[in-house]
Amino acid sequence: MPETEAELDVAFLPSELRKTEVAVVVDVLRATSTVTQALAAGYGSVHCAPSIEAARALSGPGRMLAGERQGLPVPGFDLGNSPAALGRYEARRGELVLATTNGTPAIVAAAERAEVVLLGCLLNLEALLAAIPPGSQVTVVCSGTDGRFALEDAYVAGRIVARLRGAVSDAARVAACVAGAYAGAVQPLRDSADGRMLRSTGQEADIAWCARESVLDLVPQVTANGTGVPVVTTAEAGPDHPGKTNRENPIRMV
Ligand code: MLT
Repeated sequence: MPETEAELDVAFLPSELRKTEVAVVVDVLRATSTVTQALAAGYGSVHCAPSIEAARALSGPGRMLAGERQGLPVPGFDLGNSPAALGRYEARRGELVLATTNGTPAIVAAAERAEVVLLGCLLNLEALLAAIPPGSQVTVVCSGTDGRFALEDAYVAGRIVARLRGAVSDAARVAACVAGAYAGAVQPLRDSADGRMLRSTGQEADIAWCARESVLDLVPQVTANGTGVPVVTTAEAGPDHPGKTNRENPIRMV
């Protein structure tokens, strides 16, 4: 048994997640990139549905339905799961309802087990790091791919934990090693199973889009979870808000 509980952990799959103060959910290809891009595009909130059926049940005025199955848009939905497409649209208003295969279920799982749930990707890496409350117990939750380890999420988890200080778990060390094995983000994203799926379905532009680092200065945070469909909004600024951008006080260094 370790002498102290690990403060920095990585769950390579949502099923590994235990109770934690702060969960940072990562599905860099593509759900957490899509949510981050959607908030940047002007949507006021994103409802993260665990299934296509749950998303359909939330459709209504002022809401756009978005999602994928096997990486492709869901018939009858307004949008797929492409952050590049969202980024190219004119400013949006209203709410997005998103259902993806792995990413939104991971957000649902995190919202059940963590006090604070933030969403991370490469697009908002620096803002995310600045928003993690100092001294907190942090678990980065990789969404995985169909219940299996996902290289691209482990890479991003490693990039995150390598910048934090605290007692690290074995899983966090492994993630940092994965990140350290690459000179940049494009290769692990391209090489991953999800990257191959995107390339084989003509969606390679999303890989380059999601590999861009710290181009969006916002942090999605779960702010409601009443119906089992977490609602994500941009983390509020302010000294007492978990998830606020806190550039002057990065996580406790030990
Ligand atoms: C997922 O949730 O499985 C992914 O976001 C799939 C995708 O890239 O569309």
